[in-house]
Amino acid sequence: MEINFEHKPVMLNEVLSGLNINPDGIYIDCTLGGGGHSEKILEKLSNNGLLIGLDKDSDAINFTTNKLASKYSNFKSFHVDFKDVQEVIDYLDLYNKLDGVLIDLGVSSYQLDTAERGFSFRFDGPLDMRMNKQQSFSAYNVVNEYSYEELCRIMFEYGEEEFAKQIAKNIINKRQISPIKTTKELSSIIESSMPARVVFKRGGADKKVFQAIRIEVNGELDRLYETVELLVNNLKSGGRMAVLTFHSLEDRIIKKAFKDLSTGCICPPKTPICICGHKQVAKLVTKKPLVASSEEQNYNSRSTCAKLRIIEKI
Ligand SMILES: C[S@@+](CC[C@H](N)C(=O)[O-])C[C@H]1O[C@@H](n2cnc3c(N)ncnc32)[C@H](O)[C@@H]1O
Repeated sequence: MEINFEHKPVMLNEVLSGLNINPDGIYIDCTLGGGGHSEKILEKLSNNGLLIGLDKDSDAINFTTNKLASKYSNFKSFHVDFKDVQEVIDYLDLYNKLDGVLIDLGVSSYQLDTAERGFSFRFDGPLDMRMNKQQSFSAYNVVNEYSYEELCRIMFEYGEEEFAKQIAKNIINKRQISPIKTTKELSSIIESSMPARVVFKRGGADKKVFQAIRIEVNGELDRLYETVELLVNNLKSGGRMAVLTFHSLEDRIIKKAFKDLSTGCICPPKTPICICGHKQVAKLVTKKPLVASSEEQNYNSRSTCAKLRIIEKI
């Protein structure tokens, strides 16, 4: 299949200036996607610099490696989940040698807009939503095999969906007749589970449930805190990490990780000497998250909910 990898990199200028690129530095783009951010980082690197791109989607790795490897000899890519970045650090011997790390969380426009990947309620496709196509667990398993309680939990926790109970009940009723196989079938169950005025008002009535299932299928929040901690610990002094998030659950984890990494002693205020042993390893570059300019929000709707946080190793 010919891959048409359309994805506009979000907050590109803010990411580049936030990373404060050292031309001879070593960078990891944990979420390579279509390589929009990576290519601009590569343009700023000398031949002594190195950019390592990671993605768990083989379509992204194949497409972007083809695009960038022929043009830049200082580009390497790995088809891996960035939560397993320790393997790449070990393999390339990068302990404490990183000048910068970027994580641009979530899905790419390519994934959302490709019907057969099953990420979007806007197109009819199989209930899939796997970023890593080698994984066997998909949205089909969640929708057809999770209990009522599990369905409610993920819709409340990951989608903050107020109609979760009604939707879960209708999913169970429908799948007792026959398995739910497509995004459109799921969409019509979701929409029939809430008042018509809510469907009308929300525009994309299915967005919250689709987001919840996608987070569950891809384990998007699992080990995120620990991975950020590991990557910041592997930065050189003065090295920076930039993280783009697209919903409050991700942002809360990044905010907490950055706060903990940039805080020293956490003993109660009146403790005479420190007993916690907690050490500050980094300082916040952005005290509050940066958001996309109104110009970018007009031109790229994906950027409207983006938040960019940056931290620097001390
Ligand atoms: C928003 S896109 C990145 C777009 C990219 N910055 C660009 O400019 O083209 C996110 C990408 O990260 C990948 N991804 C998401 N979570 C991942 C993870 N845990 N490990 C590796 N790749 C991941 C997705 O497959 C997707 O290709």
